[in-house]
Amino acid sequence: METIIRQVREDSINKEVISEASKVLQEGGIVAIPTETVYGLAGDALSSEVSHKIYEAKGRPSDNPLIVHISSVDDLYKLAKKVPEEALKLADKYWPGPLTMVLEKSELVPDTITGGLSTVAIRMPNNKIVLDLISESGIYLAAPSANTSGKPSPTTAEHVIADLSGKIDMIIDGGKVGIGIESTIVDLTSEVPVILRPGFITKKDLEEVVGDVEIDKAILQKNSNKGFVPKAPGMKYKHYAPKADMAIVLGDDDVVIDKINQLAQDKMKECKVGIIATTQTADKYIQGVEVKIVGSRENEATIANGLYSVLREFDKTDVEFIYSEGFVEDELGQAIMNRLFKAAGHNVMDLR
Ligand code: TXA
Ligand code: MG
Repeated sequence: METIIRQVREDSINKEVISEASKVLQEGGIVAIPTETVYGLAGDALSSEVSHKIYEAKGRPSDNPLIVHISSVDDLYKLAKKVPEEALKLADKYWPGPLTMVLEKSELVPDTITGGLSTVAIRMPNNKIVLDLISESGIYLAAPSANTSGKPSPTTAEHVIADLSGKIDMIIDGGKVGIGIESTIVDLTSEVPVILRPGFITKKDLEEVVGDVEIDKAILQKNSNKGFVPKAPGMKYKHYAPKADMAIVLGDDDVVIDKINQLAQDKMKECKVGIIATTQTADKYIQGVEVKIVGSRENEATIANGLYSVLREFDKTDVEFIYSEGFVEDELGQAIMNRLFKAAGHNVMDLR
């Protein structure tokens, strides 16, 4: 199929493009949309037929449920069986924004988008293009990240085009996303809220609003070989993976740089080697390796924002092995390390 590609700027939205995309959605088509986290592949959340199209275009297993995107808090009452007090408080503070809440689903939500679960994941994204699109079309948008399953999530329209051009009806190019990693997912169906996927909204941010919050044990690196099964089905897959094999080296900056140089020196005899470095460390590596800067250690948000782009950049090279520096696993660092650990298939050398 031919994929329509349209550019829209969030600060001067072209209404014609919103109408065009609404029509595609109303006719059961699927449209890639920019959000503040990553690009999504959107379709009518209440249509089983449309959800099949989404799964097929991504090559995604259909037991992995989709997030439903809404444009008004009132929509919660249609999609959820009950709306707990915590959900309203969190929505008030963090919506529209990079937070997804898991609630008991209502009858309206088809099993096909929840992978058969009795719960549904809901988010109000902070992107005016998407909010306008939902309001104008009157359609709740089921939208997983708009990548081929297993690849890093797309942070630019070019990434979406590389993965899905010819497989979907339309791509709305809204430029580079602001955050660069997927939303925080919090499960509100148990007594204490549980983080199923770390993201830009941190445990501390959530606790400020609702008190104690836990983190799903299965997603912590220290438990990676203990056999816990993550509560978010998507978190169990090797994911975000670049084509090259990858290892993460953890420790003090100087120790890590020395170790990576030593490992790279050896590895270079076998294959082309890449390094994921930061503004502060990039010039400290040996000649002959491909060094890419993910962001600045002085501002972790730049690292979150650059991570998937760097992984995709390496896919365009003939690098077969990547060494990556690591980051402190707290606040936003927890979300960054969660994605890095998965990209590396939990191949970690800890020198701390
Ligand atoms: O930032 C985001 O959340 C992006 C943008 C497009 O909104 N979307 C996104 O969707 O990352 P996706 O499909 O790539 O990841 C959704 C995650 C998966 O790990 C899935 O298993 C989990 O959410 N999930 C969805 N519904 C769930 C539910 N009812 N219970 C537990 N986990 C759920
Ligand atoms: Mg995804």
